[in-house]
Amino acid sequence: MRKYEKWIKNNTHLLTNQLAIVVGGTGSIGKEIIDYLLYLKAKVIIAARNVDKAETLKKQLLLKYPDAKVYVEYLDLSDLESIDKFQLEIDKKYPKADIFINNAGVYHLPKSISKDGYEIHFATNTLGNFYLSKKILYDMKENAKMVFVSSLSANFFKINFEDVQQLHCNNKMKVYAVSKRFMIANTLSLSPDSLGLKLGMLVGMLFPLVAIFVFLKLHKIIKKRG
Ligand SMILES: NC(=O)c1ccc[n+]([C@@H]2O[C@H](COP(=O)([O-])OP(=O)(O)OC[C@H]3O[C@@H](n4cnc5c(N)ncnc54)[C@H](OP(=O)(O)O)[C@@H]3O)[C@@H](O)[C@H]2O)c1
Repeated sequence: MRKYEKWIKNNTHLLTNQLAIVVGGTGSIGKEIIDYLLYLKAKVIIAARNVDKAETLKKQLLLKYPDAKVYVEYLDLSDLESIDKFQLEIDKKYPKADIFINNAGVYHLPKSISKDGYEIHFATNTLGNFYLSKKILYDMKENAKMVFVSSLSANFFKINFEDVQQLHCNNKMKVYAVSKRFMIANTLSLSPDSLGLKLGMLVGMLFPLVAIFVFLKLHKIIKKRG
């Protein structure tokens, strides 16, 4: 990211005092997202299933940004009860948030079933994501921004409605892609008209690979202009 620091500085504004909730902040893309949010002076809640890993990340980030406000909260996105508890904690401990980023996701895991009895990709990427996105609306500001991280692969596989959880599918790529395809449909249902969504809220979907290409393209154009 450092390569693009000048571009970022010139094309983004500070998020001073804004509160961001990042789910899946301990992963490779998540760490970069949090680093960037802190660089822009936002306060960040890392929602993580592995609290020790998140606390270690917090320590590293505080070495880089000593004045930063970073908080760690436990959340297992594949467990509906954990989502309920997480939302209650957020409600109790923090003011309403400005930014929500769900970057958490699992892919290509061996066949397994979540605590609630669902196929693990479906439980995490589809069901947990949708349940959390609905619940967290209560803790977001009127003009908040919500971003959901999906995958380009979702475009290449159709949903088999006879087996929505893909329990009988042996193609790991398809199981993952379909769970992300459902995620896109769920996110689209969070339209401004949908029940509970506050006016002025912006909901977006991020496709990591596409984002990189768009970013490189923008960088190229700006370089040409500059
Ligand atoms: N990397 C790519 O090329 C690519 C391409 C397309 C889409 N994506 C999407 O981008 C997102 C980030 O990908 P990545 O490559 O950075 O993956 P990653 O390094 O594996 O990180 C995934 C993150 O999700 C968290 N997570 C997984 N299951 C969770 C659960 N049940 N509850 C809470 N957190 C959970 C992980 O926590 P732990 O640290 O505890 O494991 C980790 O923080 C994912 O949604 C992925 O599907 C990635």
